[in-house]
Formats: sequence, C-alpha cells, structure tokens
Amino acid sequence: MFNFLYGLFSNDMGIDLGTANVLVYVKGRGIVLREPSVVATNRDTGEIMAVGIDAKRMLGRTPANITAVRPLRNGVIADFDTTERMIRYFIRKVHARKSLLHPRIVISVPSACTEVERRAVRESAERAGAREVYVIEEPMAAAIGAELPVHEPAGNMVVDIGGGTTEVAVISLGGMVLSNAVRVAGDDFDKAIMEYFKEKENLIIGERTAEEAKIKIGSVYPGSQVREMEIKGRDLVTGLPKTILISTDDIRESLNEPMKEMLKVIKETLNQTPPELSADIVDRGIVLIGGGALLGGIDKLLSEETKLPVHVVDEPMNCVVMGAGKYLEQMQNLRKNQLYSLGTREHRE
Ligand SMILES: Nc1ncnc2c1ncn2[C@@H]1O[C@H](COP(=O)(O)OP(=O)(O)OP(=O)(O)O)[C@@H](O)[C@H]1O
Ligand SMILES: [Mg+2]
Repeated sequence: MFNFLYGLFSNDMGIDLGTANVLVYVKGRGIVLREPSVVATNRDTGEIMAVGIDAKRMLGRTPANITAVRPLRNGVIADFDTTERMIRYFIRKVHARKSLLHPRIVISVPSACTEVERRAVRESAERAGAREVYVIEEPMAAAIGAELPVHEPAGNMVVDIGGGTTEVAVISLGGMVLSNAVRVAGDDFDKAIMEYFKEKENLIIGERTAEEAKIKIGSVYPGSQVREMEIKGRDLVTGLPKTILISTDDIRESLNEPMKEMLKVIKETLNQTPPELSADIVDRGIVLIGGGALLGGIDKLLSEETKLPVHVVDEPMNCVVMGAGKYLEQMQNLRKNQLYSLGTREHRE
C-alpha cells in the first residue's frame, strides 16, 4: 500500500553509472542529468569540493590539498566511498526540493562487476534515499535502449565501448547468452595518444588534451578524411610549453594497439557464440554503443575485420540509460521472473 502511494508521487529513475559519465533518466521526463563521473575532494577535511562537470575541469589542475578523482576507473569501482557520495549527490540534484520522496531506481553496472560491487552499488543508492533498487547489467540495458528485440529467440550482439571497458555481449530471449569485457576503451585511447606523442615528439600532453584530439580529429579507419589541429603540452627535453600540429594519421597510428585488443575480444566472442545465434548475427550485424562508437571510422574498421554489418545506434552515449529507463517503465507490466531473466540479479521488495 505504501509502495503504491510512493509510486504515485516519486520520480523513479534509471541511472547509467559509467566510468566516464553518469546519466540519469527520470520516468516521464527523459534524461535529466549527464555529468562526468568525477569528484573533487579536499584532502585535509574530506569535504566534497565539486562533482561532475565542475570537478572534471579540475582534473590535473588541482592544488596539493584538493584531489579530483574518477571513482570508477577501468570499469570497476575503484573507490566505494567516493562512488557512493557521487551517486547521492546526483540523486539529490535530480530530486531538488523533493527530498522526501523515495524513488525506485534501476541502476546499470558493468557485467564484469562482482557480487560485492553490485551490493555496494545497491546499498549506495539505498542510502541515498531509494525505496527499491534494481541492478541491471549494462549490455542488457543497452540492448533494451537500442530497441533490439531482446525477448525474441534470435541472437543480438552488442558492443559497448565506454570509458573504462569494452563489453561484448550476445543477447537472446531476454538474457545474456555470453559476455566478455576487456579493460580497453576510451580512457586507453587517450592514454595511447599521450604515450605516442611522448615517444614521437618528446611532448607531454594532458589526458584532456588527448581526449579532445581523439574526438575532434580522430579516426581509426585508413581511408578517413585527414584533419589537423594544434595541441599544447610540455617539451620533455626543455621542460617548456610547446605547441605542435597533429593530424588524423597520428591518432590512427597511436590507436593501433588498443584497437587490436578490442578486435581480439570481439572475435573471441564471435568464436564462442553458438552456431544458431551466429547465423542471426550474420544477418543482423553488430550493434555499437557507448561513447567509443563515435570514434571516427570505428564502424568501418570493425565491419571490415569481422566481415559483418556494424551499426552505430543513434545517440550511443544515451543508450544504456534509455534502456534502464524503459526497463523502469516496463517493470509494472513484467512479472518478477521475467525481470530476473533480464539480468537483474537482486531484487528488493
Ligand atoms: N566523438 C567521440 N569520438 C571518440 N570518442 C568519444 C567521442 N565522444 C565521447 N567519446 C569517448 O567515449 C568515452 C565515454 O563513453 P561512455 O559515456 O559511453 O562511457 P561510460 O559509460 O561512462 O564508461 P563505461 O561504460 O566503461 O563505464 C570517453 O572515453 C570519451 O572520450
Ligand atoms: Mg557505459
């Protein structure tokens, strides 16, 4: 009865807890929050100085007593305490002035998350005021968000290239048949770019500069149009600031290694896929989601390498949270056992 009453007033929400970005979807309102998963704290007092976009601006630029951290590095929760504070901050931000309401929350986690990590995420959301928390695996949420026919007895392959991990999953009949994750994704692209200029030009550049170059002129496909831009960094030899002109070819070259690793895990997953489902994937192709799907030419490269059609969904960075949101909206209509089969391992009454 109380749950029913709560349901009438609360703003139930879906959360994509990514290593790079957190997105929040509120039932009936759509995506209401999209912020980097970064928290800046005062090292002396433990006090939170900034969260999200404001904290991201501080990355690499903080004075000694302030640290700006990404609590979910490499696709796992590296810092539980800060993650919880971040979740709480975002939930409160979305629920401004409605702090008495207790929402139901669907929160997505990487499929490689351990039970302990899942529980930690659920408890964080509960402590932040959630009435019920459902934990859903990212690839499943992504497939729902991409409007793939997840309940049909046909194989769908989803590749989610995020900040910290690339997850490859085969989904059929409302469940994950197979999934593999590799800790090579957007962050590693940035690191590879930093490494490349350090070796080739003796130039030390920041993570944000590397990301900017990747987004502005990056491509991994040899036939792509070549673009150029200037980047600034510090000369390793003289120690002085230096500006150089770089091109799309530099970025492609620097991303060779991480792309190889990513391809390897995709090919391995295709190898492990049961033959009937493989046949479906040949027809339907691979669906690419996550911010990394926006990298220039990545669909063409993957298609050439796997000999399969590759589609990038519309708005690949929204896909997971949209899926979590749809799941929330469908929840009333689904029986509990169906919810379980959709990848939710834990359920609270
Ligand atoms: N246009 C673009 N080209 C290339 N990469 C991009 C582009 N836009 C965003 N990215 C990269 O996408 C990554 C973030 O993607 P996304 O928001 O899907 O990650 P996430 O969900 O937070 O991470 P994860 O799923 O690993 O937890 C970042 O590394 C970012 O640099
Ligand atoms: Mg993600």
